[in-house]
Amino acid sequence: MTVCLLIKLAVILVLIMSRQLHARRIEGVDKNIWVEFTQLAADYQVVNLGQGFPDFSPPSYIQEAFCKAVNGGCSMHQYTRAFGHPPLVTILAKFFSKVVGHDIDAFEDILVTVGAYQALFCTFQALVNEGDEVIIIEPFFDCYQPMVKMAGGKAVYVPLRPVSRGKALTSADWVLSSEELASKFNSRTKAIVINTPNNPLGKVYKREELQLIADLCIKHDVVCISDEVYEWLTYDGAKHVKIASLPGMWERTVTIGSGGKTFSATGWKVGWAIGAGHILKHLKTVHQNSVYHCATAAQEAVAVGFQREYEHFGTPESYFLQLPERLQHKREKLAACLESVGLQPVLPEGGYFMIADISSVKVDLNDPSTQGEPYDYRFVKWLIKEKGLATIPVSAFYSPEHSKDFENYIRFCFVKEDSTLSSAEAILRNWSNGK
Ligand SMILES: Cc1ncc(COP(=O)(O)O)c(C=O)c1O
Repeated sequence: MTVCLLIKLAVILVLIMSRQLHARRIEGVDKNIWVEFTQLAADYQVVNLGQGFPDFSPPSYIQEAFCKAVNGGCSMHQYTRAFGHPPLVTILAKFFSKVVGHDIDAFEDILVTVGAYQALFCTFQALVNEGDEVIIIEPFFDCYQPMVKMAGGKAVYVPLRPVSRGKALTSADWVLSSEELASKFNSRTKAIVINTPNNPLGKVYKREELQLIADLCIKHDVVCISDEVYEWLTYDGAKHVKIASLPGMWERTVTIGSGGKTFSATGWKVGWAIGAGHILKHLKTVHQNSVYHCATAAQEAVAVGFQREYEHFGTPESYFLQLPERLQHKREKLAACLESVGLQPVLPEGGYFMIADISSVKVDLNDPSTQGEPYDYRFVKWLIKEKGLATIPVSAFYSPEHSKDFENYIRFCFVKEDSTLSSAEAILRNWSNGK
């Protein structure tokens, strides 16, 4: 009797101990380049052109708005409306109705989230079922793939490819093959994710390119998830077009935005999803069962920022004009430096980033701790450890199927003070001069 009981207990113990602790949905998504490379950059205290955030302050009016909110009495310190602080959703609706050319309902068609990141998470969780396919255009902001996987979906990739026109490449020279894109759509396709202006490439999709995607979405009844966090940052006259503004697309598009990227305040983590109420209500279900409320004071400040932009839109007073003007100069400065040291930049039409081809520089990568890693990972780690400059490997923005073809690029972030860019330049020039 006692022996039997002991055996039973032992069996139960073995079963408990052998039961897998983690949920299967997180398998294979534990590695994250930001965690790895941000830590490395911090360990080596380098000049950091890696992660995408400004090392300068947001405009003073929005900082003042935040201070005013925090000092403005009790309500700013308490929960606000769960799906978005009323002043913020009201001004977002007013502002973006004009841009999209469609009447946006502040309380039905908008969800405020903890950064664009959470808006993306809510979108995938709300819309993707087990076995659904989601088309992702490469290179892509790396979180799309794990988010699709955690929702039970299957990511299907289609790369933008560089076409050589016998001159220096710009992001406009990276294009989709219409046949290849069309071949990825089928009855299992639930959604396509696009990112314009693109991280890491800086591509700003032209209206014709978006129309091709829109036509396929409409033909196959597919949702478009359009990540537009860098929407105000375009250069050389490139125009950002919202795919939701194309005929027939409002009803099937979720547009993702970021107050952090918009106002150079990435630490505030205020983001949003905008789309037709019949789609947004499902995102709200995910939000109310996970995060529920976002920080009130930060939303209040972003609302003040948008109110000001609404009043000054299209004038020299607008931060949405001032920031790209400031960045255009930084983009030129970085591109000239990269070229002069033999790293071939791909000039971005938009966004915060510039990728550069590293294939013509020869480096003796003898660090045994990085043996077996992709070439660009090894190169970036070498640059951090040996030269004190942090960047990001571009193959991280590709699927395992295609990453091998893009191991010759690294990404630089240029939303930095001129002094930071000058320090990076000095490192690159010294290296190039053999110092
Ligand atoms: C393309 C893209 N989407 C979304 C995000 C996340 O934005 P947020 O900081 O508002 O969460 C980033 C941040 O780098 C990004 O580059």
